[in-house]
Amino acid sequence: MESIDTLRQELLDAIAVHESPREVLKHARLRELFLSISTRDPSERAAFGKALNEFKNELETRIADREAELENSDVESIDVTAPWDITHGQVELLPTEQGSRHPLMRELERVIDIFTRMGFEAIESRQIDDDFHMFGSLNFPEDHPARDGYDTFRTEEGFIPPAHTSTMQHRILKAGKEKLEAGTPIAAVSYGRVFRNEDVDATHEHTFYQCEGVYVSTEATLGEMLGTLKRFFETYYSQQLKIKTQPAYFPFVEPGLEFAIEKPAALGGAPGEWLEMLGCGMIHPNVLSAAGIDPTKYRGFAWGGGIERLVMLKYGIEDLRHFESAKLSFLRKFA
Ligand code: PHE
Repeated sequence: MESIDTLRQELLDAIAVHESPREVLKHARLRELFLSISTRDPSERAAFGKALNEFKNELETRIADREAELENSDVESIDVTAPWDITHGQVELLPTEQGSRHPLMRELERVIDIFTRMGFEAIESRQIDDDFHMFGSLNFPEDHPARDGYDTFRTEEGFIPPAHTSTMQHRILKAGKEKLEAGTPIAAVSYGRVFRNEDVDATHEHTFYQCEGVYVSTEATLGEMLGTLKRFFETYYSQQLKIKTQPAYFPFVEPGLEFAIEKPAALGGAPGEWLEMLGCGMIHPNVLSAAGIDPTKYRGFAWGGGIERLVMLKYGIEDLRHFESAKLSFLRKFA
């Protein structure tokens, strides 16, 4: 028994530090102890054998613990915040190229920024909507052919991924009605993704971005609208611009206009080269009435246009499809 006790601490200590703790069982003195069972005096043989087996079990338990410990220490911790690779013991610099905002999002932010400085509140548009906001509230009569002009997608349930940000007009008008009646004009822009079931080419995408403006007061005029838009484009392109309009039909405005700017020489334009930038007009009385605003007391104007077109002109981008292409060669130009 004594011989077991003298060996115990030595073997337990060995297991605690050994890299292959099971090797400790091969210790010569331990083997000698096992061999000595048969030569023991029969009166103590059983008790000695039992004690020796218990000792061996104890060693096995410690070995299992130590093995588990060794296995866990194999899992090296990974510092996900480190800009270098320390997972294999040596510090190695990883490529440190930074991501950047998508050019479209950055430009959209600039657009919104210009309008909010002019006093417009900015609201993101919805990405799923219904027939009422897409058409009904915007003075599209049932079965009117103008509905077809919007190439709308529909879900099986009849919802509509909006084909223009004008779906937000009714909401903006309703939300602003009370303040309007208390004397504060409604001034809001709505921006976001819109969807059209169109064939994709260099100037058409099924998914694109629009920005919409709505302004209502007791004396809003077309002249104010044109001044607001001219100011916006001049700020965005950082230069003076010539503008013109031509009549256009949208059921939710009367009169309705297409608004064009002369392509600036600095951006490769020749005199007399006009670019149509958006649709606009005075809000139709039926649209005001649908939102509970009295069209005999209040007047408003609205406009809406694509963001991509704006950005393409600014940077001379020739193909709309670059934006959604995820091509790094394209994106890096804007990083
Ligand atoms: N929603 C129209 C379009 O996408 C543009 C528009 C907005 C026209 C507001 C007039 C007023 O074609």
